[in-house]
Amino acid sequence: MSHALPPRPRAASNRGALNGTIKVPGDKSISHRSMMFGAMARGRTTVSGLLEGEDILATGRAMRELGARIEKNGDVWEIDGLGVGGFLAPQTDLDFGNAGTGVRLTMGLVGTSPFISRFVGDASLTARPMGRVLDPLRAIGVEVVEHHDNKLPIALKGPKTPLPIRYRVPMASAQVKSCILLAGLVIPGETVVIEPVMTRDHTEKMLEGFGADISVATDAEGVRTITVKGLPDLKGQELTVPGDPSSAGFPLVAALIVPGSDVTIENVLMNPTRTGLLETLIEMGGDIAIENRRVSGGEDIADLRVRHSSLKGVRVPPERAPSMIDEYPVLAVAASFAEGRTEMPGIEELRVKESDRLAAVARGLEANGVSCEEGEDYLVVEGKGHVPGGGTVKTHLDHRIAMSFLVMGMASDRPVTVDDDRMIATSFPSFIKDFSRLGAGLSANEDAA
Ligand code: S3P
Repeated sequence: MSHALPPRPRAASNRGALNGTIKVPGDKSISHRSMMFGAMARGRTTVSGLLEGEDILATGRAMRELGARIEKNGDVWEIDGLGVGGFLAPQTDLDFGNAGTGVRLTMGLVGTSPFISRFVGDASLTARPMGRVLDPLRAIGVEVVEHHDNKLPIALKGPKTPLPIRYRVPMASAQVKSCILLAGLVIPGETVVIEPVMTRDHTEKMLEGFGADISVATDAEGVRTITVKGLPDLKGQELTVPGDPSSAGFPLVAALIVPGSDVTIENVLMNPTRTGLLETLIEMGGDIAIENRRVSGGEDIADLRVRHSSLKGVRVPPERAPSMIDEYPVLAVAASFAEGRTEMPGIEELRVKESDRLAAVARGLEANGVSCEEGEDYLVVEGKGHVPGGGTVKTHLDHRIAMSFLVMGMASDRPVTVDDDRMIATSFPSFIKDFSRLGAGLSANEDAA
């Protein structure tokens, strides 16, 4: 993993307008699931547009260790899967690096298997709570052979007879929902997940595509009851991964805040469980045209043409949080350049991401002369129309903190430095190259910014 190397600072400076076209990398959530479901299905799955970030490569290595064959042929990834219940005992620890989705979903995927699998990760992943997935796995009968206050390293061993459960997910988390549904695939009978607030639905949609018997009922309050029948015959699929709307958030905000910019972002996933940032930026007055809407790989996609805009502060409704949970750091940057207050309530889940993102964002804003108020579960940013900059931001092994503050530096009065850009490779390996092509000033040497 690249983070065995020393931290690598980078600075962003305002070099004027951003112009051109950018194709963001494949969606991270769908890429993880493509690797996993391909490994679990019988026969061959092909994947084009896969995100080749470190998080996904770690999931790919874990799937290989569990017995799947995974090769890249030209631009297409080929996965020869093992069939439901066919995973083999791993001979080494499964190392997920920085990836919460990778480790939490795989615990569901293999936790019920009749062998011991051991899960490890980097310092950021090791600090993250895993009790949220261990609790339902314990209810299924999975033995947690090793854990450290419900954190990694964790070793799991499946029970003789795994039991189907009916589980209400206590926090808005697609990872917890998915972990249980994946475990349910190898449990005889019906496993039921109740989701009070809808989160991204990639697991449900993709499993159905692979041939699982999965149904969703939504009541008048929007509570979803998802039922999966165990032991389906999953068959390999031809998959196309759309562009990641979370990664699209960076050029989107950059083009809005850098005067004179006009950028087209191609091939962006428009699944409504992922479009909260877009909706919010349009409410703030962002000039964003949604063009060329089409369907690809069973998902709506579109191109976004974004032009520099004067933004105004807004209140983001808390119920929108799940559809933009990874985008709050970059929204906070947009809010810093807006006129007026932007209120972001109901974002306690930010405290358990790759870093404590609420705290990391607040410290980064303060370091660059932006006033904000950090509450236990909210953030308020006081926008003044411009940002002084000149600060150094601690990124805490968090790719989205690094990218968000580099975007800030593209429009601030003075350059913004991030203490470490290595983690950007987990989700957006072409970030520096792509933004440089649009005209951004990104320097590996903080003095040269
Ligand atoms: C993801 C779910 C979200 C999100 C993460 C990807 C997924 O996490 O933050 O980046 O692919 O299921 P939570 O389930 O913890 O909200």
